[in-house]
Amino acid sequence: MKILKTNIELAEWLSEIRQKGVSLGFIPTMGALHQGHLSLVKQSTDENDYTIVSVFVNPKQFNNTQDFEKYPVSTQKDIDLLEKSLCDAVFMPGYKEVYPEKTKQIKLDLGNLNGVFEGPERPGHFDGVVQVVYRLFDLIQPSIAYFGLKDFQQCMVIKLLKNAYFPKIKLQFCPTAREESGLAMSSRNARLSDEDKKKAARIYQVLNIVKGLFHHIEAFDAINYGKHLLKNAQIEVEYFSLANIDTFTPMVKWQKNNKNVLLIAAYVEGVRLIDNIVF
Ligand code: PAJ
Repeated sequence: MKILKTNIELAEWLSEIRQKGVSLGFIPTMGALHQGHLSLVKQSTDENDYTIVSVFVNPKQFNNTQDFEKYPVSTQKDIDLLEKSLCDAVFMPGYKEVYPEKTKQIKLDLGNLNGVFEGPERPGHFDGVVQVVYRLFDLIQPSIAYFGLKDFQQCMVIKLLKNAYFPKIKLQFCPTAREESGLAMSSRNARLSDEDKKKAARIYQVLNIVKGLFHHIEAFDAINYGKHLLKNAQIEVEYFSLANIDTFTPMVKWQKNNKNVLLIAAYVEGVRLIDNIVF
């Protein structure tokens, strides 16, 4: 596996593989890799001739500098995991490679995406994601880029970015990889003890319980019941809402089959976790 640290090294590698006229899969990450990330890598290696992963902790998407400073870094472990995963190259750029002095701010109208769920809770977050993914797409120009549905709202943002600037890049949104308990895999889980992880698994269980009430009781009541269950489990809910999968607007009534997404952000022992379920 090639380890590429500069834009020049990246460009050289890209020109080598492009001469062969191959398809290139790309998975952007912020490192601290786990099986969730590796499930995207697997899908890419299955579907493409070459796969490249980027590891870059993007300061622009953290609205809180402390959160940025606390973000786990495990460079050597990430490289080892990627070596084993059949990935062909990893791009690990420094700040100046991604944001050279004259980079201009990319404009993208996110519509209501900044106003709902993760938007108001993390001001500037999605704009930071747009800036970094624009730069990475522009540098790499992959055939297919892979994102996890665990970050459902991020997938919607990336879809807008693609439609506005990168019509040729195909997007694949991949299912959430979970622990056996159902807990969605996340870099933040490393901050949970085994006991906390058991507690956190309740989040996905409750999503399933509320989903099970689809059409049996009103959505509004089902969600309130879900909130009550989480409170009993000492999980502090930040939001727990239903949205229409296409419009991504919060709804109080159930939508048609396969148009419902339940979204949660909650704190377990001070660690903020998100999850969702589509049905
Ligand atoms: P990061 O949190 O490192 O996640 C990288 C990719 O892995 C994202 O597409 C995310 O949705 C996916 N992912 C995380 N946990 C997953 C799980 N349990 N199952 C499946 N996929 C999972 O998301 C980011 O980084 C950044 O915002 C980024 C897009 C790299 C821009 O900086």
